[in-house]
Amino acid sequence: MTQSRPAALITGASRGIGRAIALRLAPRWTIVALARTAAELESLAEEIRTGGGACEPIVVDVTDGPAVRRALEGRHVDVVVNNAGVGVMKPFVELTPEDWQLMMDVNVNGVYHVTHALLPGMIRRGRGHVVIIGSISGKSGFAGGTAYAATKFAVNGFAESLMLEVRDAGVKVSVVMPGSVATSFSRTGRDQSWKLMADDVAAAVEFLLDAPQRMLVDRIEMRPLNPPKKT
Ligand SMILES: NC(=O)c1ccc[n+]([C@@H]2O[C@H](COP(=O)([O-])OP(=O)(O)OC[C@H]3O[C@@H](n4cnc5c(N)ncnc54)[C@H](OP(=O)(O)O)[C@@H]3O)[C@@H](O)[C@H]2O)c1
Repeated sequence: MTQSRPAALITGASRGIGRAIALRLAPRWTIVALARTAAELESLAEEIRTGGGACEPIVVDVTDGPAVRRALEGRHVDVVVNNAGVGVMKPFVELTPEDWQLMMDVNVNGVYHVTHALLPGMIRRGRGHVVIIGSISGKSGFAGGTAYAATKFAVNGFAESLMLEVRDAGVKVSVVMPGSVATSFSRTGRDQSWKLMADDVAAAVEFLLDAPQRMLVDRIEMRPLNPPKKT
């Protein structure tokens, strides 16, 4: 580990947006990369080390509260990016209890487990940044997105309330709300070239982290410029 660098823990770092955030921050930050898939985390860590950076993979499921606590409690990280997320998009009447529970567990409860383990250290040190990757679905619902949008509305309420609680302690809380991003998140098989790139979201996160300490950007909304017209 390169001790002189600040440390950023990113959940869902094995692929997609989380991986892009890890790669973008790696030249200046020590990366702690968390997800369930060991092989993908190892390949990320290898890529970062080859580029001269430092990356510690942590294989854990964010829905497993005790495992998250064991892995993270007492760790010194300067930034946590709550990015791990899942979406099962289907009409509400077709949504199974398991679909519903999965989205609540990963997108909402996972944010609780990870943030709850790391925030006390940030408050003690009087400095830190909790970033949450929300979604435009956190302000606009859509057909097929009842549970997913509910989770993303939930994290917006969580982020705003937490921000008001801990800003006086020197800890920032920000939510990034992207529209459609070209990742494996949506496996439609359709053209994704009009979508945001994962690195666009990573650039927004880097902007948040590079802001002067006196400046708190609590919310970024971003969307593709030219999505296909609805027919
Ligand atoms: N793609 C979009 O259009 C879009 C738009 C707006 C917001 N977002 C949000 O952006 C975030 C990342 O999405 P993405 O597009 O990068 O999705 P993705 O490519 O499907 O990646 C999801 C990541 O979350 C991790 N993950 C899922 N369940 C997990 C669990 N139980 N424990 C730990 N890690 C878990 C996955 O790792 P493992 O499977 O290895 O655990 C993977 O690294 C999500 O919060 C999503 O809601 C995405």
